[in-house]
Amino acid sequence: AMPELEALKKEAALRAVTLVESGMRVGLGTGSTAKYAIEAIGERLASGDVRNVVGVATSDVSEALAREVGIPVEPLDPRPLDIAIDGADEIDPELNLIKGLGGALLREKLTEVQARRLVIIADHTKVVARLGEKAPVPVEIARFGFLSTIERLREVVPGGRLRQPGAQPYVTDNGNYIYDAQLPAQFGPAELERQLKGTLGVVETGFFLGMAEVAFVAAPEGVRELRR
Ligand code: A5P
Repeated sequence: AMPELEALKKEAALRAVTLVESGMRVGLGTGSTAKYAIEAIGERLASGDVRNVVGVATSDVSEALAREVGIPVEPLDPRPLDIAIDGADEIDPELNLIKGLGGALLREKLTEVQARRLVIIADHTKVVARLGEKAPVPVEIARFGFLSTIERLREVVPGGRLRQPGAQPYVTDNGNYIYDAQLPAQFGPAELERQLKGTLGVVETGFFLGMAEVAFVAAPEGVRELRR
C-alpha cells in the first residue's frame, strides 16, 4: 500500500486537476506532490475527458514526466497561463508560501506569476501558522562569486548553508547554486524578501507571497480548501 502521506498528496493533486479544462495552458509544478497532478492531467488527456491541454513545465524533471504521460509541453512565453498547479514546502494562513526545497523555485516563480490562478496542493504537514516554522528559505544564487554572496547574505539572515547533497554543491536547472537560509526569530516575509532580493548575487528566493489563490490540503479527515 501507498504510505499515508503519499496517498494524501495524491488526493490533493486529484482535486486540483478537476479544475483543468479543455484548451487550457497549465503551469506544471515540481516535486513529489506536483508529480501526481501531472500524471492525473495525462490520464484525463488519454481518456479524452479533456482535450488540447498544453503544459508549461517548471523543471526539466517535470517536463520529462509530462511528455512521458502525453502532455504536450511548450516553453514559457508572455501569454498568461489559465492555471498553475504546484506543491509547497510551507503554507501560511494568508497562503503565502515557502517553495524550492526541490530546487525549482526560479522557474516556478517565473511560470506561476503568469498564471491566472495558482493552485497549491499539499498534505496537511505543510500548513504552518508562520512561515519559517519548519523550513529554511531556499535562495538561488549565482555560482560566480558564491562565497562572497553568502557573506553578504549573512548580514541579512542569521545563517544557513549551501545546498550540497554530495561531494559537489547542488546545481539548479538554471546553473545556479542554492543557499538554504535560516530565518530570523521575528521577520516580515515581504521585508525579508526585499532584503534578500536586494543582495548582490541573489537570483531569486523561495518566498511566494500573495501568489496562491487556493490551496487544497489533504488530511486523513479529507481535503480542505484554503483561500486567503
Ligand atoms: C520545488 O522547487 C518545490 O517548490 C516543490 O514544489 C516543493 O518543494 C514541494 O515539494 P513536495 O511536494 O515534494 O513536498
